[in-house]
Amino acid sequence: MVPTNLPEPELVSASASLRLNDATDMRYLLDEFYSLYRKIASGGSPKIRSHQRAVREAIGRVIRANPPISLRSPDRLPVTDHLRRSIDRGMMDQMASMIRALNAVRDQLSWEYGYEKVPKGLARKYGYAEIAGPKGPIQTTELTLGFVLFAPSCTYPAHAHNGITESYVCLSGAVSENHQGVYTPGSMIFNPPEQMHRITVSDIDPALLAYAWIAPPEILISNTMKLGKTK
Ligand SMILES: [Fe+2]
Repeated sequence: MVPTNLPEPELVSASASLRLNDATDMRYLLDEFYSLYRKIASGGSPKIRSHQRAVREAIGRVIRANPPISLRSPDRLPVTDHLRRSIDRGMMDQMASMIRALNAVRDQLSWEYGYEKVPKGLARKYGYAEIAGPKGPIQTTELTLGFVLFAPSCTYPAHAHNGITESYVCLSGAVSENHQGVYTPGSMIFNPPEQMHRITVSDIDPALLAYAWIAPPEILISNTMKLGKTK
C-alpha cells in the first residue's frame, strides 16, 4: 500500500523555459563575446572604444537578466560546408578561445540569409547565425550578437543599417571592407549607422566574423536587411 502522508516529490516541468545560466555552453560563449570586446584593440579611436564599452555593458545587462534561451531548430546553408575549415584555421590563431566556444554550440546554430531575396552568387557563399538578440537563442533586446561566414571569393554587396552601430571582429580568414584595409584574426571593423559597406573575402580561405549590433530595442526588433541601399 502506498503511504499517503509523504510529501510530494518536487517535479520540474518539462516545459519550464531554459535560461541562460542553465545553458552552459551559450553562457560561456556570451562570456567570450564580453572578453573579446574587452581585450580587442581600439586603435586609439574614441568612437570605437565607446562602441566596445557599449557592447560590454549590454552583455553585462544580459548576463544579469539571465534571459530565456529559445533554441531554434538547427539550420544549415551551403556556406556552412566551409565552417569546419574556418574553425580549423581559427583554432591556430589568436581568436582560438572564441572559436572553441563557437565550436561547442555549432550543432545548435541556425544559419540564415536575413534577406528576402538573396543574389544568386551570394546564396552559396554567405550566411549568419545569431547568438543573442530579439529572436534568440539568447533572448534580449539589449543588442544583437552573432557570427557571419563567407566562402572564399565571396563579395558581400554594399549595404548599410539605419540606426544600428555595427562591428565585425575577424576570427578566421581575411576580409577587406570598401577596399580600405585588410582584416585578419583579431582585427575589428566598425560601421557607424548608415555607413555603406561592401566586404570581399580572400580567394583561398573562408572568413568567419563575429558581429555586434547596438541600437534601440525597437530598431533591433524591427530590423530587416536590404542590400544596395540604406533602409
Ligand atoms: Fe553590415
